[in-house]
Parts: sequence; structure tokens; C-alpha cells
Amino acid sequence: MLGMRFYGHFPLAFLWILIAGSETFLLSKGGITSTFIRNEEKSLDMPLESDVFRVSSGYNAPQQVHITQGDRTGKAVIVSWVTEDEPGSSTVVYWSEDSSNKLEARGKVSTYKYYNYTSGYIHHCTIHNLEFNTKYYYKLGIGNTTRTFWFIVPPKVGPNVPYTFGIIGDLGQTYDSNRTLGNYEMNPVKGQSVLFLGDLSYADEYPFHDNLRWDTWGRFIERSAAYQPWIWTTGNHDLDYAPEIGETKPFKPFLNRYHVPFKSSKSTKPLWYSIKRASAYIIILSSYSAYGRSTPQYKWLRKELRKVNRSETPWLIVLMHAPWYNSNIAHYMEGETMRVVFEPFFVQSKVDIVFAGHVHAYERSERVSNIVYNIVNGKCTPVYDQSAPVYITIGDGGNVQGLADNFTEPQPAYSAFREASFGHATLEIMNQTHAFYAWHRNGDIYSFQADSLWLYNRYWYPMNDSTTIN
Ligand SMILES: [Fe+2]
Repeated sequence: MLGMRFYGHFPLAFLWILIAGSETFLLSKGGITSTFIRNEEKSLDMPLESDVFRVSSGYNAPQQVHITQGDRTGKAVIVSWVTEDEPGSSTVVYWSEDSSNKLEARGKVSTYKYYNYTSGYIHHCTIHNLEFNTKYYYKLGIGNTTRTFWFIVPPKVGPNVPYTFGIIGDLGQTYDSNRTLGNYEMNPVKGQSVLFLGDLSYADEYPFHDNLRWDTWGRFIERSAAYQPWIWTTGNHDLDYAPEIGETKPFKPFLNRYHVPFKSSKSTKPLWYSIKRASAYIIILSSYSAYGRSTPQYKWLRKELRKVNRSETPWLIVLMHAPWYNSNIAHYMEGETMRVVFEPFFVQSKVDIVFAGHVHAYERSERVSNIVYNIVNGKCTPVYDQSAPVYITIGDGGNVQGLADNFTEPQPAYSAFREASFGHATLEIMNQTHAFYAWHRNGDIYSFQADSLWLYNRYWYPMNDSTTIN
């Protein structure tokens, strides 16, 4: 409905074109619907014996290694991993690239049960007081079975610090998921950490939410997530809420396996939190937790937005799972109730970009807002708004549910570009005012940059950066 109503504001000249019946104009007015012809094969999960799921050799070898930011500014890292045979050690040995001084951080180990599944020993260890802009090696495991990885601590938070994020959503563990991750790794634009938009393993697609598929997913992403932080957002496939088999604690596997630094942003739940990284302030919201007035998430976000200092972090980015502006028939308007509650805050705060997943296709919006409606004025339509974020839907990681290739027609005016293909995105923040964004459609080995634009910072340089509107 949102998209159709928008046409009420089109100039008379355009209405005449519609009446004249030119299909080309009808479809292109809202932006571009890509005509790319893709392989129609179904996305199939990789079998359990696939090499990407291989368990490291050696007794009790650490597996499913992944890291994420461990504090407010990036001076800490949370390292997580699983051992299968026994608890082993939760200690991480680490050292900086130019030092032989070995340091130790002690973590904790736990297990969980889900229906008839019992997890391996899940370790989480936070390393604090790291040096900015420094490469560290870290070693997990004990005895004859140790594994060594590395990460690079980001630069100190500041207004003109260049930094590159990768963006991936709804990944799953199919052959297409593997292509997405491989394309991200092979991209000449080198992402320094991943903003992940929810729906991780899709284990809930298996009988009784077979949690072995959470393990395989952890092994699958290790090749990236052990070396650069993945910043986690949760999606509906991470809920694992299944009262029919006695599982009534939402997000149980996710919360046991993926820790985030929610307390450092004064959040009360790991499902919504924020971090600062380089020149970006990143707010992570939960589409599947209460967000109405007076809820903890609502109250937290109100306070949170007031804390953002654009002189320190010029780029304000929000991650969520269910998109607000989506013209795909799949999940159409599912984000609407959250949009109604939070959109005015985003516009007031001049959020630069909102990334969402959920819809298994790609779409980028114009800068629009839909916040003036007050019941009696009839203005229940999006309008171009230079204080509004660009909304990017990128739930096209390649999971087992396949592509959402049915868009609403005509393409609404708020939609700048859309295409039902798998892929990933990169965001290269150059300085306080400019960032280059690109969406990379999957290829077999390399991806293709199918959509891109220069984004101008909403606080420091709020100029029109639309690709379709002068
Ligand atoms: Fe989803």
C-alpha cells in the first residue's frame, strides 16, 4: 500500500504518461528494476560431508571460531569457539604482531540443550585493552591440538577515519551461501568487518531445528569470522521458538553461541545494542523483540540516539532484520509497525543508512520519509526527504529458501534499484562526508558490482545523492 499511495504525489505530466500507456515509463519511474537473467536453480544446502564443514583434526580441536567487537570502541574482542570432546581450556593466548610477549585472557565455557540435541562446549573469552590499528595473533586449545588465528584492531574512533564494512544477510549454508562468502573474500574491496543482518544458519528448516546445522554454520563462516569481527543482528530464523517440542526460550541457540557487547551500550538484552567503530556509530535493533512505546528497546533507542556525537562518529548506521521500505511481494510491509514507531527518530537524528535483510533479494531506496501523517491530513505517503536514511535490503546471502523474485509492479517511486539475485555489499567510508557503497551480485568465482553510489553524510554534507532524482 505504501508504494501505491506514493503515486498520489506524482506530477501531472507523469500521470499523462501513465495514461498514454507506456510500460517503459511505468516501470522505470520508481528507479531501476534490473533485467538481469539469473540461474533459476534452487538453492540447496551443502551436505554435511562438505569440505567447508570439516572439523579440524586433533583431539578436542577448537572449531567454529568467530570474533566480534567486545566493547564500545573496538579495543576489545570477543573470541568464541566450540570444543566437542571435553571442556578443555577457555583461555586465549594472544600477542601483537611486533611483540613476542604472550598474553592470556580467560574466558568461560558452557553448554546448552535443545530438544534432543546437546551442544559441544561453547567458549567465550573477551580480550581487553588491545592497541588500536594493530594486528594480533591468537591461539586456542591446549596440548597437541592448538589453532592460531589473527585479527586487526580497528583504528581509534574519530571523524575522518576511513573504514570498509562488508554487508551480508540471510546467509544460510547452501552452495549459494558459499558463493556469497567466497565472493566477499575475493572482492578487491576488502571489508574489514562484516555487518550481518540476521538469519544465520537456517537450522530451523530442519526437523526439530536440528542444531547440528548451527554447528556446521559455525564451521562454514570460520574462514572469515575468525579473522574479522562479524557484527550480529538477529532474524526470525534465529528465534528457534518451538513450543511443540518444549523449546520456549526465544533465540536460545543464538544467545548461547554468539555473544555481543550489549552491556557497553547500556542495553539490557543482547538483541539490541550499539558500537562505535572507526568513524561509524552502529545501532543494532531487534525486529522480533517488543519495540512499542515504554518497551525496553524503545526506551534504550531514545536514549541511544541522543548519545550519538557526529563530530566523533559522523556516520550513523542502523541494522535490523525486517525492512521498512521493501517493494518485494515477499514480506511486504512486515516492517511497517516498527517503521511507524521509530522512523521519526531516524529522520530527526539524520541516520545515514539503514541495512535490513529478511527479503531474499536486493533493493535500495531513495531518501524518503513517511512521518507527517496525523490521521486527518491524509499525508500517508512517503516523500523525498534529505534528512532520511537510504534503506538497503540485502537479505540475499543465498539461503535454502531461494530468491524472492516477485516484485510489486509498478516499481514504487521510493525504490531506486532492485534485483532478485544473491550477493553481498561493501561500504567504504572515505572521510567525514563521503562513502562509496556497492552491491555485488554473485558470480561463480568473482562478483559483479551491479549497483553503486556515493553516499553523502547526512549531518556534514546533506546534499542530494540519489542516482535517479536530480
Ligand atoms: Fe528473515
